[in-house]
Amino acid sequence: MSLIHTESIRDPDRFNVHLSEEDINEAIDVVVKKTKHNIIKLGETFPTSSTVNDTYSTSKNVEWTTGFWTGILWLCYENTHEEVFKNLAEKNILSFKNRIINKIDVDNHDLGFLYIPSCVAGYKLTKNKYAREAAILAAEQLSKRYNSKGKFIQAWGKQGAADNYRLIVDALMNIPLLQWAAKIENNTKYSEIANNHFETTLKYAIREDSSAYHTYFFDNKTGHPLFGKTRQGYSDESSWARGQAWLIYGIPLNYRYKSKEKYLAIYNSITNYFLNRLPADFIPYWDLIFNDGSYQSKDSSAAAIAICGIDQMLREVPDIPNKSVYRNAEKAMLKNLIENYTAKKSDGIVALINHGVYSWHSGHGIDEGNLWGDYFYLEALTRMKFNWQVYW
Ligand code: GLY
Repeated sequence: MSLIHTESIRDPDRFNVHLSEEDINEAIDVVVKKTKHNIIKLGETFPTSSTVNDTYSTSKNVEWTTGFWTGILWLCYENTHEEVFKNLAEKNILSFKNRIINKIDVDNHDLGFLYIPSCVAGYKLTKNKYAREAAILAAEQLSKRYNSKGKFIQAWGKQGAADNYRLIVDALMNIPLLQWAAKIENNTKYSEIANNHFETTLKYAIREDSSAYHTYFFDNKTGHPLFGKTRQGYSDESSWARGQAWLIYGIPLNYRYKSKEKYLAIYNSITNYFLNRLPADFIPYWDLIFNDGSYQSKDSSAAAIAICGIDQMLREVPDIPNKSVYRNAEKAMLKNLIENYTAKKSDGIVALINHGVYSWHSGHGIDEGNLWGDYFYLEALTRMKFNWQVYW
């Protein structure tokens, strides 16, 4: 990335909406009720990553999404103090410990998604020793995905292989696990890897117009930057809505450890780019190349992630440029999620919000609910309700 262009926010007044304390409380009550219903259906199993016909199935603790279920339990516990949520979350922690000890589906970058909302949250809230042990093991596993040639954490595939020698923007959400472990273990190896990955991502994954590549390849022999490529976006040169949202949340999380003036400018640029491409109801289509009239699917999860990210940045830098528009944009997105995207189905294992897109190219979870959308929706509501202490 050379100098990036910062768009000003078009029509900032359109974000002026009213969202009351009562709206938030009612929405949280609905979530708590649905989660209790889901607990009865799930027992100690986990929901699948996304719904089919708006209903989850049961799953073992596999894939990259199960941590969000445990995270929903912790958020419900924080909102209600009811033991039913804590008891199941504690049982889930033992499953996560087993998963990392036995290396079940953990050879990838997703360890933060898995271990932060489940085990780091559990440790922060209750000092659960198994949660701490599991999350430290997960951080060590994540550190093994680091490539010093190119200075990034490799997302998927055989470590070091040319056809997978790339970073992905989503991983900014995973490296706070390394920062947490660095502090707990007093081990600078972890923080160096996280800081390097953060720096490399911002250097190469953001285009001059402030949109983002989903993934970026490097030469596996020299570490030289090669080219950007999408995996879940519409095309290599478009901006996948959820990828842009992962940056909107990932940048403030990492800015806590490596704050530089230039990162703030990047933050404004990528956030304004996202907000300027929101359709009339403020919930993005699955790729920012689409807008109203495209007849494409929305990705409600991208809105939920962006709300949490903007809120986090406003905590880190309260006087950031555009702060009042950002605050209003959070409310506009959340109001629409509450009013128009909360799943109405009441049988089966139900989603909290619907109309997300998991992967358009593989035909998976299109116009369906998904676990991360549900988790970030509840995190967004919780952030608006009280001074929530971040798990990430
Ligand atoms: N990190 C995978 C996804 O956002 O689909």
